[in-house]
Amino acid sequence: MLQVRVPDVAKLRSGQARKFAFERDGEACEGFVLRRGPDLFAYNNRCPHWRVDLDMGEGRFYSALTDRIFCSSHGALFVPSTGYCDAGPCVGDQLERFELELVGDDAVITISATAGWS
Ligand code: FES
Repeated sequence: MLQVRVPDVAKLRSGQARKFAFERDGEACEGFVLRRGPDLFAYNNRCPHWRVDLDMGEGRFYSALTDRIFCSSHGALFVPSTGYCDAGPCVGDQLERFELELVGDDAVITISATAGWS
């Protein structure tokens, strides 16, 4: 298990996200914390379709219009609370979700040592 502390997530407004870096299996990876209403969620910034960054570096992950996390590459949509893809080319697949604990204003993210997909 890896743990990453992401500062100041308590101040995120609904729909905003904060990215964080981590390393797994010698590979530089990126995740993000998303606020949606009162809830905070943490995911790997990796689309299950082509295994590329969801946001293409732009830092935008969520559309209030659809109430979905979206992939900027081919438009896959993911349910914010679970990461389940319910529309797009990887429908039925899901984002790798991380455990998140709020400690003060920060989030402590727990990441498994191996990726959540084969
Ligand atoms: S890479 Fe995300 S939908 Fe294709």
